[in-house]
Amino acid sequence: MTSRNELCWCKSGLKYKKCHLEFDEKLKKLKREGHIVPPRNIIKNKEQIEGIRKSAKINNGLLDLVSKNIRQGMNTEEIDKLAYDYTVSNGGIPATLNYEGFPKSLCTSVNDEVCHGIPSEDVILKNGDIVNVDVTTILNGYYSDASRMFMIGEVSEEARKLVEVTRECLRRGVEAVKPWGFLGDIGAAVQEYAESNGYSVVREFGGHGVGLDIHEEPFVCHAGERGTGMVLVPGMVITVEPMINAGSDEIFIDDRDGWTVRTADGSLSAQWEHTILVTEEGVEIISA
Ligand code: MF3
Ligand code: CO
Ligand code: CO
Repeated sequence: MTSRNELCWCKSGLKYKKCHLEFDEKLKKLKREGHIVPPRNIIKNKEQIEGIRKSAKINNGLLDLVSKNIRQGMNTEEIDKLAYDYTVSNGGIPATLNYEGFPKSLCTSVNDEVCHGIPSEDVILKNGDIVNVDVTTILNGYYSDASRMFMIGEVSEEARKLVEVTRECLRRGVEAVKPWGFLGDIGAAVQEYAESNGYSVVREFGGHGVGLDIHEEPFVCHAGERGTGMVLVPGMVITVEPMINAGSDEIFIDDRDGWTVRTADGSLSAQWEHTILVTEEGVEIISA
């Protein structure tokens, strides 16, 4: 038990009574009521949030650079090179490089690839492709994570709609985030919109806490029920990153590389990702 005049456990340097005392009392009550409450180690203080914002500046800058350069005829290895050079020249480290054996500085997932596609000289972007570029950056030990979809040349109406609906799923998922709300609020918002458009939501992969590590608690499922799951509190940094399939939600990991996740039925899949901060007032998008 921290006493009122001791320093707060969040390492803000403030006295407990001026920092997380009221917060802890609120959480204690929610826990008594049977809710799942976040562990202390995922609640970020001001300094950590500032660190994550600086990391996100590189992450966002790189996605902007990709959007300026991505084009038909380019191979995805070239995008990877842009990522490595931009990140390192800005003092950062690409978080995916050598992460659990992942060989590249970002993920590029084309058409029926759901996520974790590996950039390669052999993957040449062609007219009509839709591609997700997913970037994770480390700066001074702080992590940020975001992804965007790109449409190459003239894409089919069907592909465009999937990309746009998935973007709206992300917007609605983020909008559902409220301090003292619930993780299930995000999943419910995403799932409703995806399914009302005839699409399905991938369940095996999802969002996650982020900031001091690439993947922290909690797992953010993009399907769920309002008012359920972990309580969302100020200082939590999580990603929302819906993976939406045009066909069935079934997926598999390609055993040729052990990474690339694909739709089982070969249908198109899209994804957009933000890193967000739960604030006292609502939500702040940190990386987009
Ligand atoms: N950026 C991905 C995410 O959103 C993580 C990629 S890990 C990798 O969670 F190893 F596949 F690169
Ligand atoms: Co990501
Ligand atoms: Co992520």
